[in-house]
Amino acid sequence: MNTTPHIVLLPGDGIGPEVTRAAHRVLVEAGLHATFDEHPIGWTEWCERGDPLPRETLEAARAADAILMGAITSKPEAEAARELAPRLRDHGLRYRSPIVRLRKELDLYAGLRPARAWRGIPCAHPETNILTVRESTEGLYAGIEIDNVEPDHAALIHYELANLRERTTGRLAISARITTEHASRRIARVAFQQARLRSHQGATPARVTLLEKPNILRSTGSIMLDAARAVASDFPDVTLEIENIDAACMHAVMDPTRYAVVVAENLFGDIFSDLAAGLAGGPGLAPSASIGDRHALFEPVHGSAPDIAGRNIANPIAAILSGAMLARHINQPDVAARIERAISATLASAPASALTPDLKGRGSTTTLTDTILRNLWSNDDKR
Ligand code: NAI
Ligand code: MG
Repeated sequence: MNTTPHIVLLPGDGIGPEVTRAAHRVLVEAGLHATFDEHPIGWTEWCERGDPLPRETLEAARAADAILMGAITSKPEAEAARELAPRLRDHGLRYRSPIVRLRKELDLYAGLRPARAWRGIPCAHPETNILTVRESTEGLYAGIEIDNVEPDHAALIHYELANLRERTTGRLAISARITTEHASRRIARVAFQQARLRSHQGATPARVTLLEKPNILRSTGSIMLDAARAVASDFPDVTLEIENIDAACMHAVMDPTRYAVVVAENLFGDIFSDLAAGLAGGPGLAPSASIGDRHALFEPVHGSAPDIAGRNIANPIAAILSGAMLARHINQPDVAARIERAISATLASAPASALTPDLKGRGSTTTLTDTILRNLWSNDDKR
């Protein structure tokens, strides 16, 4: 018999706890079979303990079957130093984003960001239904940045820089784009698996579009291309298309139905998923998953929204949809479907008094969550 899955909740900062609480309530009411416990992460931990990702939290996350996170606050270097508790100052502590660390520690290499339109929510393109699969460990976000480039970094760089230096005297820096065959293949594999899954569910055609720029970024780009083609041969039922990232942005705005599952390196995926979220109705509705081979973390795309924190007006839907993705991940697809139906019904018909202000409503996090909870069951009754 299967053991009960264990979920670690990381509410975090700002509106994080408000939306995580809502998502937890909905998961429990929707019948998720799981145990939960909660661990601290984020800015308060940094200020009071000098570590935004305490060791106990990391170990709990590592041991969990899945993680549901709210959001965390990150602030620039100077503020991080200023807000640290006085007794912790002058110990050489440096703030590092706990979410970036979690992704690294747990090797959460695949960012899954679905963007779909909802009836009742005005948006640019009601037909939008795109899953962006974003490589999350390398690319331009690998952190290889050279402030002070020395000629011995590479002969080619030297040559190019010498030319540049003749024409410019100001600051000059390099951010390197790192691409490995290993990471390119494993992200392509996730994209093809997702495309197959979604087409079996009847959601979108069995199609993967690789977004790259291989005509310009030739060395790194060709690794991505070769990886996608190699993986495609294992998925004869899924079509592979290859497009330039810039052209794809234009096409997506004109006709988002051109895309079902797109796969891209870190930066391109980051940009394209925001574009897709914008086409589908905005960030208040955008969930995400960060998946690795052994661990998985689910969180809304939005941040801790300090401007509205503590006022019970945050839209909980992005967090609740992240919870639905979690339910599907731990093999409870009926729970996920029930939650998605309830959200669909809520957005299609809830009065302004139930909706949060970002959805042009006059309600609160609580009224919107309560409406979703009511729709969980009334929807099932109609079936
Ligand atoms: P943000 O996403 O927190 O807020 C941007 C705007 O959207 C704000 O006006 C906010 O009120 C609104 N908003 C966000 N979520 C909302 C919701 N659920 N309902 C209604 N309105 C919502 O991004 P921002 O302002 O750039 O960053 C704030 C803090 O969040 C920063 O400290 C940043 O580092 C952090 N952040 C954390 C992320 C994470 O935990 N993964 C992701 C993005 C930002
Ligand atoms: Mg982004």
